[in-house]
Amino acid sequence: MMVHNKIIKTVAIFLSLCMMFLSLTDQVEAKSKGKKPIVISFDHRRNIGSTKGMSTDAVSSATIYSGATGEKKSTIEVIRSTIKSGTGAANFNIKVKKTYSKNYRKTVNRARKEIDNDTQVKLVKKKVSGLKKYDTVYLVIPVWHATLPQPVKVFLKANDFSGKKIYVFGSHLGSGFGENVEKIKELCPDAKVIAGKAYEGDAKNKSVKKSVKKWLKANS
Ligand SMILES: Cc1cc2nc3c(=O)[nH]c(=O)nc-3n(C[C@H](O)[C@H](O)[C@H](O)COP(=O)(O)O)c2cc1C
Repeated sequence: MMVHNKIIKTVAIFLSLCMMFLSLTDQVEAKSKGKKPIVISFDHRRNIGSTKGMSTDAVSSATIYSGATGEKKSTIEVIRSTIKSGTGAANFNIKVKKTYSKNYRKTVNRARKEIDNDTQVKLVKKKVSGLKKYDTVYLVIPVWHATLPQPVKVFLKANDFSGKKIYVFGSHLGSGFGENVEKIKELCPDAKVIAGKAYEGDAKNKSVKKSVKKWLKANS
């Protein structure tokens, strides 16, 4: 019995060492092709305060909990985390000081007003510290009113992206990238802005992850 336990323990240690090695080589491979990238995202779900204890039914929008498919993670979160683990990128989340309402309609109305009035939305952290360290930025953002969410606009204006490559990824419910890529080009004129991929907000988490991985493999 003791010998049996020892064998199981040894096999378990061996397997975990193999997994650690594989994940390290993945990241080293990505990093060796240049400086470490950074993934910057704006996720609606991280900007509506706590959703703890809320059931899917309690939220009025399919887009908040992707209720239509029963998916637990937002598309933005799936894209962000897949890029982060696939490239070893640093991470920055754009967050507003005054969170949006959990009520979808109210959020839509507030967002419209902010865009129309070019509101200087207050952010938890306006600037990325040490942005100079990064050559490549993955910007992962949804389409709001066919354009940039106002917090993203405020954030882009506050940081200097000169000389950087910005890959844009997005989520939407029909508008594709909308005006996002063009607007980013306007706000970051000295950066090279490249359209990555835009995903339907109600796509399955699994298929988005697979597609992002495929894109990374083909483009990094
Ligand atoms: C304020 C607001 C405005 C939106 N405007 C649009 C739009 O103009 N076009 C569109 O395709 N989707 C629009 N959407 C849907 C978002 O892009 C959607 O929430 C997102 O794609 C869902 O992805 P997620 O799973 O990352 O939350 C809007 C959503 C919100 C909250």
